[in-house]
Amino acid sequence: MAQRRHHAGPRQRPGPARRGRPGADVSAAHAAAPPPAAPAPEPDGTSTGVWPTSVRRGDDGALVVAGVDVRDIAAEHGTPAYVLDEADLRGRARAYARAFAAAFADLAGADVYYAGKAFLSVAVARWVHDEGLRVDTATGGELAVALRAGVPGGHIGLHGNNKSVDEIVTALEQGVGRIVVDSLAEVDVVARLAAERGVRAPVMVRVTTGVHAGGHEFIATAHEDQKFGLSLTSGAARKAVDEILARPDLDLVGLHSHIGSQIMDLAGFEVAARAVLGLRAQVAADTGYLMPEVDLGGGYGIAYTGADATPPTPEEVAAALAGVVRRACAELGTAVPRVSVEPGRSIVGPSALTLYTVGTVKDVQLDDGGRRTYVSVDGGMSDNIRPALYEADYTAALAGRASAAEAVPSRVVGKHCESGDIVVRGVALPADVAAGDLLAVPATGAYGRSMASNYNLVPRPPVLAVRDGAVRVLVRRETLEDLLALDQG
Ligand code: LLP
Repeated sequence: MAQRRHHAGPRQRPGPARRGRPGADVSAAHAAAPPPAAPAPEPDGTSTGVWPTSVRRGDDGALVVAGVDVRDIAAEHGTPAYVLDEADLRGRARAYARAFAAAFADLAGADVYYAGKAFLSVAVARWVHDEGLRVDTATGGELAVALRAGVPGGHIGLHGNNKSVDEIVTALEQGVGRIVVDSLAEVDVVARLAAERGVRAPVMVRVTTGVHAGGHEFIATAHEDQKFGLSLTSGAARKAVDEILARPDLDLVGLHSHIGSQIMDLAGFEVAARAVLGLRAQVAADTGYLMPEVDLGGGYGIAYTGADATPPTPEEVAAALAGVVRRACAELGTAVPRVSVEPGRSIVGPSALTLYTVGTVKDVQLDDGGRRTYVSVDGGMSDNIRPALYEADYTAALAGRASAAEAVPSRVVGKHCESGDIVVRGVALPADVAAGDLLAVPATGAYGRSMASNYNLVPRPPVLAVRDGAVRVLVRRETLEDLLALDQG
């Protein structure tokens, strides 16, 4: 049986095989057989499990996040809601900062950029910056949030395969530390805009290494047949380097590579890093200019369900990358660069859960004679598009009470007008789950709220941070008034 691509890199650590077809199209999300319905793992306080580290079951069986009972959160703030464990998120950010500082201490140092696309709000940008990270942005919107948070321009990077003039101008005017150029045409645009402002723009070249690792085809970004970067093999990356070196308004800081997302096996990074370091050495040999930095991207995987492999820890990632850089540069005979990375999912993903309220519950007879309970919740594909878009698997647990009822194969679905509106394809839930129950879906911190939509004109849920027994609204709930205000009649 093929492994589900979203979870399995090319050489994933040993783990249970999952159903799914590589490259399956989106419609397969509801055509494919569901994974076996296992219950959600119990919260265990570890940083490699599916729950935020502070989550516990209270004495009467309800989930408690950072000291706050989910029933109180739901009563005060409503559902659906993303509930973010601040200490967990900060701890992950700090762990990356420390691990990279330690692993690269005897090399040329390292910087960790938090990939804001996973989820960015002003508070989160501040927290990760407080914990020693910089911020990677992909649009003017993410850039605006990072700047509003007070992150200095020099600690921000700007990506994008199709940056607007306004985005580039903002980056130049705010002193963004690196603009990652993604096409030959963009070299010209950035140089012209920098010249007009009398500044020298710090740029990196996004290199397509041909390494394809990690998840679903739509989230793998370094193979040739996709929109990102400048190809190493075609010579486009080298051409961009030469053009940048010829432009006095551009400062070539280094090379950038991002090979994909939800990667559990670190081997792909070695291949990509070697390719990028090889180009750097070649440029140095030909021109005498040794680029000071190399960015190896993000993409480290997390556990979404109990069936997922144990994800690599920040220490493992940092040690692996430091080893590769040390070895490759020794072989190439070049000094090591300062290295940067851009994790997003592995910092914010496990820090949050989504809290839903159960509505309709239906028992459905399956073609094979089995039965499945369809548990409808008050959100769905508008707050988590990932199951429909990538066939991503999640799990769910009864959150507001304990139940001794038998666990039965269940599917958690949303309230949208679409049969592919699935939140959890297969999970064992107590047979007595009923309208009004609270359900928690863990590991929704990354690419949940950031990819949320208003499909069916459903307002987007709030992001609530919990810390030391107190809840704080980071992003308020959208209201129907917000949506109606956009409609100009
Ligand atoms: N750096 C670059 C240049 C990226 O393109 C990405 C993700 C990251 C860093 C962060 O990757 P992370 O550590 O979060 O995996 N919407 C998809 C993921 C798309 C990721 C695109 N780029 C999902 O929901 O799985």
